[in-house]
Amino acid sequence: MSDEKIMNSDIMISSESIQSRIKELGKQITEDYKGKKIVVIGVLTGAYVFCADLLREIKVPVELLEFVSVSSYGDSTESSGNVRMYLDLKRDIKDKHILIIEDIVDTGLTLHSLMEIFERRHPASIKLASLLHKPAKSKHKIDIDYLGFTIEDKFVYGYGLDLFGTARELPHIAIYNGEPKK
Ligand code: IMP
Repeated sequence: MSDEKIMNSDIMISSESIQSRIKELGKQITEDYKGKKIVVIGVLTGAYVFCADLLREIKVPVELLEFVSVSSYGDSTESSGNVRMYLDLKRDIKDKHILIIEDIVDTGLTLHSLMEIFERRHPASIKLASLLHKPAKSKHKIDIDYLGFTIEDKFVYGYGLDLFGTARELPHIAIYNGEPKK
């Protein structure tokens, strides 16, 4: 990451706050799924860090962990909804308890489309955990069952989320105050 980008950044959520919230979410998820097994679906790429940390705080059996890769497509194009799915699930999720793990819900388009796709596969249940929610630009109402933090409408990065492809490795969430990339 360049010095200019680092100078244009502030910490929004510290590593300690993230880890302590994840412990709380893990406890709640463990309680809610008592006696059940879950299938965890992480949404690449941004959710990979949150997914790894959250999973280690969930104390019910995870029978399957899979990742999907999607890209938003505005309100048009793909027949499956409004996202293109680059990487789909390898296994059938019929009658399974699904927990989707996402990094951030912004307009809600990605999750709205993903939920539709998964619901057509008849799982026993679907719930969503998202580290962040930016309600300011919400277009689709998304019920986030396990939410880390609600944030203001700023571009954020770190802890899995990227800044122009970099900085996913940061342990905290930072705000980008620089010029938007053209
Ligand atoms: P949505 O479909 O508008 O809800 O956007 C969800 C996706 O947009 C997330 O999975 C992220 O990949 C990306 N995104 C939205 N806001 C940010 C941000 O502030 N930083 C990094 N990625 C973001």
